Amino acid sequence: MFRGVFSLKIFIDSADLDEIRRACEWGIIDGATTNPTLIRKAVEKRGGKVSMEDYIKEILRTVPGPVSLEVIGVRAEEMIKQARILYEKFSPYGEVVIKIPVNPSLNEGDDLDFDGLKAIRQLDREGIPVNCTLVMTPEQAILAAKAGARYVSPFAGRIDDYIRVKMGMKTGIDYRKEDYFDYNLLSRIRDLKLNEHASQYGSVIDAYKSQDIRKLDQETQDNGIISGVDLVAKIVRIFKTYNFKAQVIASSIRNARQVREVAEIGVDIVTVPFEVLRDMVRHPKTLEGMRDFMADVVPQYRDIFEHR
Ligand code: E4P
Repeated sequence: MFRGVFSLKIFIDSADLDEIRRACEWGIIDGATTNPTLIRKAVEKRGGKVSMEDYIKEILRTVPGPVSLEVIGVRAEEMIKQARILYEKFSPYGEVVIKIPVNPSLNEGDDLDFDGLKAIRQLDREGIPVNCTLVMTPEQAILAAKAGARYVSPFAGRIDDYIRVKMGMKTGIDYRKEDYFDYNLLSRIRDLKLNEHASQYGSVIDAYKSQDIRKLDQETQDNGIISGVDLVAKIVRIFKTYNFKAQVIASSIRNARQVREVAEIGVDIVTVPFEVLRDMVRHPKTLEGMRDFMADVVPQYRDIFEHR
């Protein structure tokens, strides 16, 4: 059997057993990631009629690799307890990984900022593998890796959304969730605009201090991150530089081009929704080529298959 030795792993980002089964049948899935929203969607699709424990066991039996299951607590002790429950209950059925949010605060002033990291530290000591979720900055990724997370999940699509909203774009009006965020084009436009603005100032210092220029620069990025893919790239670079053991899972993936771009920068794993997996295998010229080839089959060639 030749399946090759790949270092890029593909997970399915879904809790829908139909999708998981189909994708696993294609033979290209190495793991799965779930979260409470994905579980809610799967339960709603089944009209609420789901025996949750059996359902999760079946996901684990189906997936040939790690399956991330998320805790629902916000305090470290609570998350550790829930992680142990998930790990003990479901490990006999497959490879369980526990998802812990990097920062479980629900409100400013909760004083829960470090509870995710505390939980990760403890679970790592107990040998329970953690996927640190809701990572939106390289700084968070560094802390998660230091705490002992086995996987770190930067949310690329949500960072693209965040930047688009900062720019004043409206989802559903200016862009659809699945649209590719063209940050290269945006960077070129931003540079032109900045040049235009900067030329109005006599000195570099005046331009640097200008609030207009700062505003223009700030609203097209998130504290130095220019896109979701850029977030993933920066984390991959830092982890490689310091030889961190944690693997990076590019998450919140919205389209096939994002998958290509995170692969180009050498991410370890990309977790892909079912629809995006489908996009990855499609191209109009492949479709056209298939139709041409099928139309060109001569009877002599068809005979090979039909008269054995
Ligand atoms: C990752 O593990 C999450 O389940 C997921 O990628 C979140 O994606 P979303 O931003 O599309 O909800």
